[in-house]
Amino acid sequence: MRPAVLVARKVFPQVVERLREHFDVEVNEEERVWSHEELIARLRGKQGVYLTPTNRIDAAVLEACPGLKVVANMAVGYNNLDVPACSARGVLCTNTPDVLTETTADFGIALLLATARRMAEAERFLRSGQWSNWSFDMMMGRDVHGTTLGVLGMGRIGQAIARRAAHGFRMQVIYHNRSRLAPEIEVSLNARYVGKEELLRESDHLMLVLPYSPASHHAVGAAELAQMKRSATLINIARGGIVDDAALAEALRERRIAAAGLDVFEGEPAVHPGLLDVPNVVLTPHIASATVRTRLAMANLAADNLIAALGCGPRAGQPPSPLNPEVLARR
Ligand code: GLV
Ligand code: GLV
Repeated sequence: MRPAVLVARKVFPQVVERLREHFDVEVNEEERVWSHEELIARLRGKQGVYLTPTNRIDAAVLEACPGLKVVANMAVGYNNLDVPACSARGVLCTNTPDVLTETTADFGIALLLATARRMAEAERFLRSGQWSNWSFDMMMGRDVHGTTLGVLGMGRIGQAIARRAAHGFRMQVIYHNRSRLAPEIEVSLNARYVGKEELLRESDHLMLVLPYSPASHHAVGAAELAQMKRSATLINIARGGIVDDAALAEALRERRIAAAGLDVFEGEPAVHPGLLDVPNVVLTPHIASATVRTRLAMANLAADNLIAALGCGPRAGQPPSPLNPEVLARR
């Protein structure tokens, strides 16, 4: 019998077609995210689920869906999955690393430039008809080239950003991470390992690229913001919840830091009202990986994972990016 799988959010039709070659597929065709209860109801009796970070797989789902074998997340970040609980029940989890690294790094730099150079604020100014004259001090921002970039979280995306910063913008890069890079990589990225305090104090621009976990919850809150330069900018392309958005809104309002650029939010798609109220923040709706080519690559990689992990296709049994490969070894 063909395995049954659920596609919990609409995705490229050609990717769904690929899944239909192997599986009985049910797709959420609605333009909305199913509630946790709806997800559970739809997933009962199915062996695989294809999902995005807008849906959670936790102990309640696993309990209600004992036939579930594979969870394929169409994202590199997987804080929406309880991976240890999945492992304990022999459920394989996969994500989509690598294919989005360069695209996401481009966006980190774009958001940094837009924030430091006040591009969103300047566009609002022009569109609202306030531009009446050239003025020496109109929309003055902060330089990016030649300044110090701080990177919190030096994974693949952090390194791709550091490479752009060091070689494209002649920036000094300092970083903090659980582990240090190999010395030759530090040299190639012009990057120096520092403690978190030094990172906060010395960065002209601070870029957050670390995964969300209970350990990184509010890694940047009021106390951390207070240690940053008043001229600093803060960029978050990682996950909502890494920044305390209420504390950030307050710091921006009081100009305790110069500006922020945010692609992710605590409780998104809701955005803290204090952030909508201040001019010195650039807000984008979680689109750092959103290019045509990269989103298709992510969607196909998630499908490759689901197909292989359910024992189909040319790589049967060998999904390309498992998060808990010990589950495969036990099968
Ligand atoms: C998107 O946020 C991702 O984790 O891929
Ligand atoms: C995170 O997983 C990254 O690719 O940086």
